[in-house]
Amino acid sequence: MKNLPKHVAIIMDGNGRWAKARGKIRTEGHFQGVKNVRNIAIYANELGIECLTLYAFSTENWKRPEDEVNYLMALPKFFFESYIKELMAKDIRIKMIGEMAAIPENARKIFMDAIKKTANNRGMILNFALNYGSHQEIVRAARKYADDVLSHKRQNDLDENGFADYLYTKDLPPLDLMIRTSGEKRLSNFLLYQSAYSEMVFTDILWPDFDRDVFDLCLKQYEQRDRRFGGLNEDKNN
Ligand code: FPP
Repeated sequence: MKNLPKHVAIIMDGNGRWAKARGKIRTEGHFQGVKNVRNIAIYANELGIECLTLYAFSTENWKRPEDEVNYLMALPKFFFESYIKELMAKDIRIKMIGEMAAIPENARKIFMDAIKKTANNRGMILNFALNYGSHQEIVRAARKYADDVLSHKRQNDLDENGFADYLYTKDLPPLDLMIRTSGEKRLSNFLLYQSAYSEMVFTDILWPDFDRDVFDLCLKQYEQRDRRFGGLNEDKNN
């Protein structure tokens, strides 16, 4: 595939509707969803994508019923117990963005272990957004910068590049493509700063049904987009 995006982010939506359509409880949808994370991560790595960022739990998801929140917080244990060997064998590196302090201790530890274990891998970065919200990320960055100025670590000379260094994503490639499943067409507080010039692809497919073929279709759409970053594309005379 030509024009492969380096960094793809996915809002994995529709687990609940997938379950409902089959007369199952919502958590069954999340269970299919977490298994699909494995499938899509393996495929993205095979394709040569450098970084895949997945919206696993937002700062707003705490508003869900306690049982569902507990289920979602138990998914990292299932995921890494089931797949860490395979992820290691495929050279995939795990990372995480979000406010770690509020994540339950056991889930946090599981993530920290996986991050440490895969730190020297050189394949795709599989980056989980957990307890992540862009507003929180941007306010945190502003506070950190203010602290640095007040403690004379930095001058009051911030520009866009400097600001990006205060975001969770500072070490990741720029975001090229944002995908949202399940037909919703909004960003829901996900990577708002980073997606300023990303391409957006919205698909009606629910996350548990998002397979290699659907991913290929999204990548095809990306391939056909004319990215100008606010400038002109001189090849096309426009
Ligand atoms: C949105 O569907 C999905 C989520 C809030 C959870 C997504 C998480 C995963 C797929 C697994 C994450 C994996 C790890 C390892 C942490 P929804 O419940 O809002 O669906 P609905 O809109 O149909 O109700």
